[in-house]
Amino acid sequence: MGDRAIDTLLLEERRYPPPADFAAQANAKADLYDVPFEEFWEREGRSRVTWFEPFHTLLEWELPYARWYVGGKINVAYNCLDRHVEAGLGDRVAYHYEAEPVGERADITYGQLLSEVVKAANGLKALGVGKGTPVGIYMGMGPGLPVAMLACARIGAPFTVVFGGFSAEALADRLNDMRCEILLTQDEAYRRGQIVPLKRNADEALASCPTVRKVVVGQRTRADVPMDPERDLTWGQMIAGQPSDPASCPCEPMDSEDLLYLLYTSGTTAKPKGIAHTTAGYLVGVATTHHYIFDLKPETDVYWCAADIGWVTGHSYIVFGPLCNGATSVLYEGTPDFPDKDRWWDIVERYKVTILYTAPTAIRAHMKWGPEYAQRHDLSSLRLLGSVGEPINPEAWVWYREHIGSDRTPIVDTWWQTETGMILITPLPGVTTLKPGSATKPFPGVEAAVVNDRGEEVGPGGGGYLVLKRPWPAMTRGIFGDDARFRATYWERFPGMYFAGDGARIDEDGDFWLLGRVDDVMNVSGHRISTIEVESALVDHPAVAEAAVCGRADPVTGQAIVAFVTLKGGEEGSVEMLETLREHVARKIGPIAKPANIVFTPELPKTRSGKIMRRLLRDVAEERPLGDTTTLADPAVVAEIAERAAAQPAEE
Ligand code: PRX
Repeated sequence: MGDRAIDTLLLEERRYPPPADFAAQANAKADLYDVPFEEFWEREGRSRVTWFEPFHTLLEWELPYARWYVGGKINVAYNCLDRHVEAGLGDRVAYHYEAEPVGERADITYGQLLSEVVKAANGLKALGVGKGTPVGIYMGMGPGLPVAMLACARIGAPFTVVFGGFSAEALADRLNDMRCEILLTQDEAYRRGQIVPLKRNADEALASCPTVRKVVVGQRTRADVPMDPERDLTWGQMIAGQPSDPASCPCEPMDSEDLLYLLYTSGTTAKPKGIAHTTAGYLVGVATTHHYIFDLKPETDVYWCAADIGWVTGHSYIVFGPLCNGATSVLYEGTPDFPDKDRWWDIVERYKVTILYTAPTAIRAHMKWGPEYAQRHDLSSLRLLGSVGEPINPEAWVWYREHIGSDRTPIVDTWWQTETGMILITPLPGVTTLKPGSATKPFPGVEAAVVNDRGEEVGPGGGGYLVLKRPWPAMTRGIFGDDARFRATYWERFPGMYFAGDGARIDEDGDFWLLGRVDDVMNVSGHRISTIEVESALVDHPAVAEAAVCGRADPVTGQAIVAFVTLKGGEEGSVEMLETLREHVARKIGPIAKPANIVFTPELPKTRSGKIMRRLLRDVAEERPLGDTTTLADPAVVAEIAERAAAQPAEE
């Protein structure tokens, strides 16, 4: 978070009031902000979802744990599927599924999705999965992934989705932490025309996962992957002979506070945190925000969230929110540049997408490629754009609006986190005057603030730490198995408030400007990666003595990872070593965590007490003038590192 960034944002004076025609038809009107907090969430809880038994108490709040919609019985899969089919909407398309190989596509209706989910749920039951059985899911972006999640939700089995880009080791850590008994995976996935060997990774992971007793393998590429006859079966074998009639597998009535899923995310230690989300509050939170913020008209809109379901954005805004609202969505398997850089715009044109939700890193990649790819296609169906995952720079915001949104569509810049479960700071598209780079206002019923080091609210124009002062329905119910870490990470820095880990500033109009992480977490392409995780992966390599990692600004990915590595005696900082270490990190965590640069240095800058001076390394990485070096044991070290860093070519 450089001062320069803050200054640029404050100079941003462009304003975009909501177009009158959009405002006139919008789901959210200005008076939504006037509804008292309890009334708002009570009303949404009663109307947006269908209960088996209604809740009796809106909220029980015993900091840091909230219980929402207490006493209710509900099922997420019922709300996402059965109730729509029962209402006669079985023929509505739930997903326009577009595979990465060109021409391979399928429309999946709510009725079909329900049948697939029921078969899978029956199949899982036959494998001994029931309420409370933890299930791991490691799949690519295809319809099988939401089917797997909803089948688990139907029978009350909590699950964890592990992003298909994570390595065997990352998968094993997660399966072990949750003590998963079943793993749902697939033979291989497609990504940018390449194969991702999911089953091979899974086999490697399972060598160290004693709790997993059955592995179900979906057949995506139909590659001949090794199968352990005792442990493994194909998806086809799991569902063979299983009925698809919903009555054959009634939805488990779940308590409002039963665990729905865990999603692991990086924090400031090497161990990812299992962020817990429960049933009713989460569902109400994601469905409500999806309805108002994306202004969804389920009968006419074609909605596309171009994230991966493996991240929270996909959980909340590809699967649970949109399906609960009866939306028709696009589900795209591949990358934006396969086979060419206009693939997204071809999809928008063909399905007449009306709402597009993506990340600044993707927008900046499109900017770099040039507007000609978008110009090849008719994008006039788009009426609303969204952004998520990292601060969006005003240039990218304006480019997005002009070249994708025909200089007409509102853009909702939505701030939230894995822990918050749902969007918390965002414009309402028919109400809010937009400012490029600002996520604008807390969502109705949400109370956010910016505080200084002492926890005092800063006035307009002041910068500080973003906090939340009141519980919200989709908030995490904790870090799985680690109450102490949950309290320490989010609740102790500012007593009584949730500390998000982000810097922010509020302007004269009360609009929020998010300024990036203030802890040791990097944001690479909208994905959180902790510096310490990457350091541990590097130090794990036998040639490495010490490593320090930090992020530097990158024009496309937001931040890029820079590693400073001291090798053991006798090892050489060669180009081969650089590649070896990048691959090593990819193997330990996943390709997204590969450092863009590695600077080999005989020593790291340390204080006299032996603490690595990360601040100085960040200065080096960002090519800033070096800060104060007086406390260093050997000030000459940083100068040398800076010289070596300057001589290092950056990875494309
Ligand atoms: O730093 C903020 C950034 O992403 C972090 C949350 O990352 P994750 O849990 O992976 O969830 C990403 C998708 C919800 C936040 O702490 N972030 C997310 N959205 C924005 C953002 N920063 C600025 N503006 C946003 N709209």
